[in-house]
Amino acid sequence: MTNRTFTMIKPDGVENGHIGAILEKITASGFRIVAMKLTQMTKADAETFYAVHNERPFFGELVEFMTRGPIVAAVLEKENAVADFRTLIGATNPADAAEGTIRALYATSMGENAVHGSDSDENAAIESAFHFAGREMF
Ligand code: CMP
Repeated sequence: MTNRTFTMIKPDGVENGHIGAILEKITASGFRIVAMKLTQMTKADAETFYAVHNERPFFGELVEFMTRGPIVAAVLEKENAVADFRTLIGATNPADAAEGTIRALYATSMGENAVHGSDSDENAAIESAFHFAGREMF
């Protein structure tokens, strides 16, 4: 079934000049971009977006990292989008990410791992709505 996922090219991916290469890989893998923007999260945004991790020891570091510069936020559509996108990006830790995945190619560490991908259809909808108004999704 065609569905949607939410992604961010994280501050490290933007800083390192990988926006174009990552978007090329995403579209070449059959995802259609239905919403996209360059934006920067505030501390409050990041604390809300990552609230599920707020008890984790790396939470402060994660908020600091995700707010330090612009990100590319996007909504992607494809058959089986959530699962296929997680396959395309690879494991959270780039050291464990399969060859050819976006994190294997562009991530530098567990914390600075280049891209985000939603982990469920429900979270994809919540995360998309966090960043985009209905009229910005096509
Ligand atoms: P992501 O899965 O997109 O969303 C949660 C993020 O928390 C994850 O990517 C990593 O960037 C970060 N993260 C997860 N585990 C750790 C860790 N052990 N140390 C630092 N950051 C982490």
